[in-house]
Amino acid sequence: LGYTEPYRPQYHFSPKENWMNDPSGLLYHNGTYHLFFQYNPGGLEWGNMSWGHATSRDLIHWDERPVALLARGYPDTVTEMYFTGSAVADVNNTSGFGVDGKVPLVAMYTSMYPVAQDLPSGKHVRAEQQSQSIAYSLDEGETWTTYDVENPVIHNPPSPYEDEFINFRDPFVFWHDDTQKWISVTVVAAIHKILIFSSDNLKEWSFISEFGPYNAVGGVWECANLFQMPVKGDPSTKKWALVLGLNPGGPPGTVGSGTQYFIGDFDGTTFNADPDNIYPDNKSANWMDFGPDFYAAASYNGLPDGEVIQIAWMNNWQYGALIPTSPWRSAMSVPRRLSLKTVNEKVTLLQQPQQSWRTVADHNASKHSWKSVSEGATSLDSPGKAFKIDLSFADHDSDDSLSSTFAIAIRASSDFKQETLIGYNFTSKEVFVDRQNSGDVSFDKTFASLYHAPLSASANKRINLQVFVDWSSVEVLGGQGEVSLTAQIFPEESATAAQLVSTDGVTEDVRLQITGMGSSH
Ligand code: FRU
Repeated sequence: LGYTEPYRPQYHFSPKENWMNDPSGLLYHNGTYHLFFQYNPGGLEWGNMSWGHATSRDLIHWDERPVALLARGYPDTVTEMYFTGSAVADVNNTSGFGVDGKVPLVAMYTSMYPVAQDLPSGKHVRAEQQSQSIAYSLDEGETWTTYDVENPVIHNPPSPYEDEFINFRDPFVFWHDDTQKWISVTVVAAIHKILIFSSDNLKEWSFISEFGPYNAVGGVWECANLFQMPVKGDPSTKKWALVLGLNPGGPPGTVGSGTQYFIGDFDGTTFNADPDNIYPDNKSANWMDFGPDFYAAASYNGLPDGEVIQIAWMNNWQYGALIPTSPWRSAMSVPRRLSLKTVNEKVTLLQQPQQSWRTVADHNASKHSWKSVSEGATSLDSPGKAFKIDLSFADHDSDDSLSSTFAIAIRASSDFKQETLIGYNFTSKEVFVDRQNSGDVSFDKTFASLYHAPLSASANKRINLQVFVDWSSVEVLGGQGEVSLTAQIFPEESATAAQLVSTDGVTEDVRLQITGMGSSH
């Protein structure tokens, strides 16, 4: 209970206390969604990296479980940290970890060794080395046994990348049905490469291919994941998506962390991006989210074929350790269901909220429509501090003597000196989130900014926006979900006013629905 501190997310996952970063192991098994995450059991900043654990039956009501993998040596001198990885249910017991017919859950993670040491497996690791290791659980993820007789199972990066041993991490493991093999996708972060490994038993791994560098290569590449989905309206075509984090080096207008994706094919050995997904001179990228607070996105293992749900860390390394929350830091994004659809002649990743948000939503949404919203401000009833917005309006050309921008101001003070604006610019054809005056922006000089994403009108010439607002975040999905903007905000508790703002002229045929959101705690 509790979860009522200032800024505490009401329907997004956040740990009861302490620091959290990446989702590290998203696994659906036996009707339970597991969420493992990077966790510091001893503080509000990054350190002592361990795997925290939470479970849910519906992806919205979460139950925080005991720490799954506690940094070795903690609370004394830590000799091994458990960095980001992934988890699978080894239903055929290929690993042999299963006992008496119990399906072993197997986690693959990066062992980060702060000091040089000789391990129980006889392997020697150097100071700050990163290697890939495994652990298993026979009790539905409650307790874990690290595979110490062999760990790390991928000791060093393969030739010719041996020198990258302090930047080799984030194994994303999954079962590849066509070749009946386990695949693990890792990064050599500093040189912007993905290294792919395969295995029969999760214990012995062979290096089979590499990918990159392509497109966005600012900062390091981290947290890659690879999955297959059908293309909507074309059920015979299945494509693969590779999603990865960049830090720093996010989309234009952001500072710090960002997430890009590539659509292509994977044959069990090599991932090849489609030619129209590779931009010359690293000048462009497919951005998964155009906001500042969507990083280390990870997809669920164990879902029915073709279903993909992702959760991302809703924070940014630029200021992650400075956000004004206590006794926890960081929340996860709303779980998002991904699909592929051809939009503007290109296979595009779409994101839609996973539907279980409805279980915490008010039954009566407030609905309004206007033939025309006048220039200037139009007041709205206060929607409170946590709610969902569905806003749509007619598109128009900028020379139509209609509005130049149209926005909804939320989490605003009564004088609107404090507000977060979410809207559309008809000239640049962009959705925007403006958090310049969103509340406490003082903790980092880059925080008070405006973010934008290209969005063209739907076939019936409308702009459609869906926005999830929680006590300290906004997530905007535009169109059919082809653009997303995620941003944290830290407004005053009393800032609950809202209004529409049409600039330089009227905005036509506006429909607004606001649904109050309750708490999932
Ligand atoms: C990404 C990351 C990962 C690493 C983890 C450590 O946010 O830097 O690459 O495994 O965080 O906590």
